[in-house]
Amino acid sequence: MKTIVIRFPLTANDFQKVVRILQAGGLVAVPTETVYGLAANALDPKALQKIFEVKGRPQDNPLIVHVGDRWAVRKLVSEIPESAKLLMKKYWPGPLTIVFKKSPKIPDSVSAGLPTIAIRMPRHSLIRRLSQAAGFPLAAPSANVSGRPSSTTPEDILEDLGGKIDCVIDAGGSYYGIESTVIDVSGKIPILLRPGNISIEQLRATLGKVRIARGDSLRPKSPGMKYRHYAPKAKLIVIEGRKENITKKIQSMLNRGRGKKIGVLTVQHPRAYRHDCVKFIGATNNLIARYLFRALREMDRKGIELILAEGIPEKRSGHAIMNRLRKAAGYNVIKV
Ligand code: TXA
Ligand code: MG
Repeated sequence: MKTIVIRFPLTANDFQKVVRILQAGGLVAVPTETVYGLAANALDPKALQKIFEVKGRPQDNPLIVHVGDRWAVRKLVSEIPESAKLLMKKYWPGPLTIVFKKSPKIPDSVSAGLPTIAIRMPRHSLIRRLSQAAGFPLAAPSANVSGRPSSTTPEDILEDLGGKIDCVIDAGGSYYGIESTVIDVSGKIPILLRPGNISIEQLRATLGKVRIARGDSLRPKSPGMKYRHYAPKAKLIVIEGRKENITKKIQSMLNRGRGKKIGVLTVQHPRAYRHDCVKFIGATNNLIARYLFRALREMDRKGIELILAEGIPEKRSGHAIMNRLRKAAGYNVIKV
């Protein structure tokens, strides 16, 4: 299959072309404000099956359904609890996914057989307009091969899925760079399933009590928690602790590791280390989130064998960044 690439902003013709691909059950990589999504008709089991196939996604890992507007939610869920109303009012459109009790009419493959459905109304208006014009909500997992870092550029998508999907819409680099916050409001107490740009502090300010799901539990609340995620091909080690100790530890690992292809991800300064492969990904959470996955993929393209990454404080969106980094490392963490 030839994957066509269409540049954003779209012409009316291009927009129609994409709508027709979606209506015919095709797969389109679409920009959102978090990461690129691999979009398909959420009500068409055959199109959903294709998503699982091209991503190599485990069948028991459910998809997020993206809606064009708030009204579309009613048809997908069996109830909208008060907590969800508060969240939708405050954070939609935006990087927040809400897990509801699902309506019996929704195909089982969307929710992988669970009694719940994850829904998001993105801030990026293109995916919302596509859903409205096509006439159905769009299932859209991150547009990467399962287990790899999420795609935040069109190059990432083509690297993983080129030739396997119908179309990529090229809107440049993603704004947030990490996936949406996922919160489950289907039970008595809301549960944070995946941290994201909307932080636990913000969620608690809106809802009061919110529990944090433990990522390492044997029976995970969210199927996605079981699997290795965001992983580069290189071995990745995260060094956490006080800044001075981190710098010292990484420099000594570099000194000892001569001959090996080592890359460093730093949040301090491009010249923080005496080493030739250092990537400075920014010193604020916004920039670190935006460039983290991109930097991991760039290290792989350079053939780096070992990546050393600095840990950051877990305040606000730092929580989400450390969640992705530790998972990408397979919890290979050195505390200093
Ligand atoms: O920012 C995002 O959320 C991006 C963009 C494209 O919107 N999408 C995304 O989708 O990250 P994906 O499929 O890569 O991650 C979906 C996560 C998985 O961890 C999955 O297990 C969880 O949401 N999930 C989906 N439905 C669920 C449900 N009914 N109950 C619990 N967790 C669910
Ligand atoms: Mg994903």
